[in-house]
This record gives sequence, C-alpha cells and structure tokens, in this order.
Amino acid sequence: MTFGKVPNTFQVRSTRGAAIQEVIPFRYKQALVTGGAGFIGSHLVDSLVGLGCKVNVLDDLSTGSLSNLARVKSQISFFEGDIRDRPLLSKVSEGCDILFHQAAIVSVPQTVEQPVYTAQVNELGTLCALEAARNCGVKRVIIASSCAVYGNDPRVPKHETMEPCPESPYAVQKLNGEQHARLYWKLYGVETICLRYFNVYGPRQNPGSPYSGVISIFLNRAAAAKPPEIHGNGTQSRDFIFVADVVKANLLAAAAQGVSGVNINVGTGKPVTINALWKLISHIFKIHVKPRHTEARAGDVFASAAGTDFAASALGFKPEHSLEKGLRITFKWHKKVLAKNGYPRR
Ligand code: NAD
Ligand code: UD1
Repeated sequence: MTFGKVPNTFQVRSTRGAAIQEVIPFRYKQALVTGGAGFIGSHLVDSLVGLGCKVNVLDDLSTGSLSNLARVKSQISFFEGDIRDRPLLSKVSEGCDILFHQAAIVSVPQTVEQPVYTAQVNELGTLCALEAARNCGVKRVIIASSCAVYGNDPRVPKHETMEPCPESPYAVQKLNGEQHARLYWKLYGVETICLRYFNVYGPRQNPGSPYSGVISIFLNRAAAAKPPEIHGNGTQSRDFIFVADVVKANLLAAAAQGVSGVNINVGTGKPVTINALWKLISHIFKIHVKPRHTEARAGDVFASAAGTDFAASALGFKPEHSLEKGLRITFKWHKKVLAKNGYPRR
C-alpha cells in the first residue's frame, strides 16, 4: 500500500485483542468525533487516542454512553451537546484538522416513525458539521453514511456507481448528507469522504432497545437461551462487518490521497440471511432455540451485500474479521458486561 508523503506511521490497535496488522499513517494532530460516545464512535476515539491524536468528542448521550469512553476519559475532551448547536460545534471544531461525523439517529424504524425530527438530526446535523468544518478550517471530514441508500434495488452486490434507491427516511437522510458532503468538497474545498457502512456489530453495541442492531439483540437472546424474533420469513440478507474493521476504514479514509467528494462501501461482500445468522449463533454457542417469526418490518431492505472493489482500490481496505471471529469477540463482551452491572444505561 502506498500513501504518499506523510510524516508519521503508526501500528494501529483495534478493539479488545483484535489487532489490526497494517501500519497506517496518520498525519492529523487534533480530531473531532461527533457521536464519539456511541458504539462505533467510541472505538474510533480509542484508536485515535492510541495514535497520539488530541480528540474532542461531541455527543448528546441520547444513545451513547460515557461508559464507552471510560478507558480514555482522561485523555480526551468531552462536550455534551447537540450536533445542531452551531456555536458549540464551532467551539469544539476549533483547532481540529479532521472531523469524523458519527452522530445520528441510527434506527431505521425510528426514522419511519419520526421522519421530521430524525431529518433534523441526521441531515441538518450533517450539514452543521460540514459548515463548522468549513468555518473552522478543518481540512478533512469523514462521514458515516449507510448502505441503506441502495434500498431495494434487487442487484447485489451493491456498487457505488448504482443509482441510490432509498426506501426509508433514514436512507434519504443519509443520501442527502452525502450530497451535502460532495458539494462542500466542490464548492469550498473541504476534503470529504462518505463511508457507506454496511451492518456494523461488535462490543459496545447495546441491545437495550427494540431498535438495536440485530446481532446485539440475538446475542442477548442467546445468552439467555431465549428465542429471538425474526421479522418476516428471515430470508432478508445483511452484510455484517465487525466494528474494528470499520475503524480501520475510517483511518484509511483519513490517510487516503486524492479521493475527496466520493462515497465508499465499507462491508465484507459476504452476506448472510437473518435465518442463517441465528443458525450460526446457535451453532457457535451450542444452543437449540427455535426463533419466533413476526411481521416483516416497514422500510426493511431485502438483500444487502457490499461491492468491495472501490474500497480496496481507493483506500486499500480489506476487512480482517470473519463473522464467526467477530461474533466470538462480541459474545465475550456481552457475557462480561452482563456478569457485571448489565448494559450501560443511556
Ligand atoms: P450509536 O447510536 O451508538 O451512535 C450514535 C451516537 O450519536 C450516539 O452516541 C448518540 O448519543 C449520538 N447522537 C445522536 N443524536 C445526536 C445529536 N443530535 N447530537 C449529538 N450527538 C448525537 O450508533 P452507531 O451504530 O455507533 O452509529 C454511528 C454512525 O454510523 C451513525 O451515523 C449511523 O447512522 C452510522 N451507521 C451505523 C451502522 C450500524 O450498523 N451500526 C450502519 C451504517 C451506518
Ligand atoms: C442497520 C443500522 C442502520 C444502518 C443499516 C445499514 C442499527 C440499529 N441500524 O439497519 O443504522 O444504516 O444497518 O444496513 O444498527 N431483525 C430481526 N429481529 C430483530 C432485529 C432485527 O429479524 O430482533 C431484522 C430486521 O428486520 C432486518 C435485519 O434484522 O431485516 C437487520 O436489522 P437491523 O439490525 O435493525 O439493521 P438495519 O435495519 O439493516
């Protein structure tokens, strides 16, 4: 992999024993991570701190938790507040040379129920982050977008060149965020890269709400040997990617040269159906519990799998965790937190 001229390189460590082997250069001195108390954001913060970067975190703690930042709390500056609070956003962006925008309402069903409120956070919030970057001279902004933008186009894998086909307010909000990002590069020269995460899982993903990610819910059910609910007939598929791989994609996007104004898939290219996911979990954890099938979920995407070529050529990105390996790491975390005090409260 070549990265052009950069002053420093670092051995990147990922979460909980899952070491990332590559040496990734990191040339930024100070980062803002919005949504940094959340599931993905907090892992990113851990890695940035490990890279010697000064880190500001802005989070309203609506779904994130300070306990996610416990390991690095003395090394970061945490600001509790809303992404749409523009004076606060300017204050926390000051002096930063890179911004990782993770803050969002991530639940697809919640955006179906509350399309206006969630658009204010997800779309307007993204615009506020971009504007703060422009006004404060932040060089690069990496944005958490989503494979949800592909919607129900039946073709898989999904390539970045496909026409987006959003099926939920969430997908529209993420797509509009991408459009704003492209314009901030074209009009104002802010280097933007949108990463279209596929379904992310791993430690710190909280199963505490019906809106939580399916793997966190299923592992919780497995730990209690209780049946999971599968929405619809379970033949819908997802491309599950482990959180440490998503952190790696963000760091590679920070390092990449000449790729501004683009959208890049972050997935494995290896989809599984929801039925197969429960079977795998049952097999790994040696439980024999039949799932209950419920109504299919409104706005649910049927087939999802990442085309991975562009991520490989633009970023040099290749995921390192198989689903089985990632599930084992995640299950350990579930057992540990459950044995302690239960999951972090919001
Ligand atoms: P998360 O809910 O754990 O993280 C989101 C964080 O944003 C939380 O800490 C929350 O408190 C914070 N937040 C929400 N609204 C805010 C506001 N108005 N102001 C300030 N902070 C606010 O979810 P996550 O899974 O870590 O998601 C991170 C990002 O990745 C999101 O942008 C999400 O849309 C995107 N994404 C996630 C997945 C996935 O499978 N988890 C897939 C695709 C994209
Ligand atoms: C998830 C993310 C979303 C992201 C998208 C990218 C969460 C909460 N949402 O949405 O932010 O942009 O991936 O693809 O992380 N299911 C069940 N039983 C359950 C829970 C879910 O059958 O108890 C099914 C759902 O109907 C769906 C699949 O599992 O078909 C995945 O659901 P979920 O984990 O909520 O993810 P997405 O809706 O794909």
